[in-house]
Amino acid sequence: MSQSTNNPVDTLPAAVADAVLVKSEAMPDSATVIKGYDFNQGVNYSALFETYLRTGFQATHLGRAIEIINKMRAWRLSDDPIGPNDTEDDRDPAFRAATKCKIFLGFTSNLISSGLRETFRYLLQHHMVDCVVTTAGGIEEDFIKCLGPTYSGSFSLPGAELRRKGLNRIGNLLVPNDNYCKFEDWVIPILDQMLEEQKTQGTIWSPSKIIHRLGKEINNEDSVYYWAYKNNIPVYCPAITDGSLGDMIYFHTYRNPGLIIDLVSDIRAMNNEAVFAKKTGVIILGGGVVKHHISNANLMRNGSDYAVFINTAQEFDGSDAGARPDEAVSWGKIKTSAETIKVYAEATLVFPILVAETFAKDGPKGPVV
Ligand SMILES: *[C@@H]1O[C@H](CO)[C@@H](O)[C@H](O)[C@H]1NC(C)=O
Ligand SMILES: *[C@@H]1O[C@H](CO)[C@@H](O)[C@H](O)[C@H]1NC(C)=O
Ligand SMILES: *[C@@H]1O[C@H](CO)[C@@H](O)[C@H](O)[C@H]1NC(C)=O
Repeated sequence: MSQSTNNPVDTLPAAVADAVLVKSEAMPDSATVIKGYDFNQGVNYSALFETYLRTGFQATHLGRAIEIINKMRAWRLSDDPIGPNDTEDDRDPAFRAATKCKIFLGFTSNLISSGLRETFRYLLQHHMVDCVVTTAGGIEEDFIKCLGPTYSGSFSLPGAELRRKGLNRIGNLLVPNDNYCKFEDWVIPILDQMLEEQKTQGTIWSPSKIIHRLGKEINNEDSVYYWAYKNNIPVYCPAITDGSLGDMIYFHTYRNPGLIIDLVSDIRAMNNEAVFAKKTGVIILGGGVVKHHISNANLMRNGSDYAVFINTAQEFDGSDAGARPDEAVSWGKIKTSAETIKVYAEATLVFPILVAETFAKDGPKGPVV
């Protein structure tokens, strides 16, 4: 039996109509219509990735990251008006046409262990980025790959069994422990030489100078840091002792003590990378030291002009790792006027696409030479 009501059954109460059928404001002409890829066109990856911006969710974020990076690459000082405080040099049209946005690239150690290493190598080989920040593993795993391979494994391989076999697991990758022995054999004599130069020539070694030297010594075109050395691209690593490199430096203090590493000259150099740049863009994969070190340097210039973050971290725990670009705006690490996006994604999935649609789209092709 139905409940009795006071309303006649054939009229919709006015309050219901008002609640549900609220009138829309007209969308602006510039509004983006959501419309994905039509596979009746066949598989055309470039056309597919162009639809990302119009697909929604993280596809739209990736599409936006592609747009922002292409803006970083296209910007020239001549695009901006001459300011009242610009020097004579700053006003020179040739200088303005040639001055580009300085691009900072940050990535965590696991990404050098992954196949993204080859993407980073491409970017440095062709001098497409201007300044790199990574952690100790992000340095040593590149050199170690020149001495012995990293293999595909599985996230579920049991630790105790791998330990017995001398295999180290990084997610679903495996690195034989022998690779670290090969690394020791390679790096210890270089540390000896560096100590000798410190004693006899007064060389003051900083993390960036060590990485430059190791890039020269590896002399291998597969290496990211060989190309950083060749193209004189600075690589900063304030946490250089937190990895196998730190183990080697520790062993070295017993074998041949006295090596000193200077962090002060590197923080001055790193901050000045940002301070003296006319425009800056940051591309940061992952969190922790690499994310904060680049952002903090940009505080020294009142913030970066473009920022693309790619990571899976969330913000609810208050760690910088998960913070959206807007948190960095509050600190002055990103400009209020900056174009920013965070892509919530695992970097190995999206970074090759991002590079394919930006740096590599019109970039050089061919063998590593
Ligand atoms: C693939 O898509 C791109 C971008 O829309 C277009 O320029 C190109 O002509 C397409 N290629 C083919 C083979 O259809
Ligand atoms: C130019 O320099 C003056 C004096 O240092 C300063 O007050 C002013 O804010 C500067 N203008 C700009 C646009 O930076
Ligand atoms: C720094 O940025 C803030 C907001 O983004 C702006 O109001 C201020 O004028 C900037 N200061 C300088 C020295 O450029």
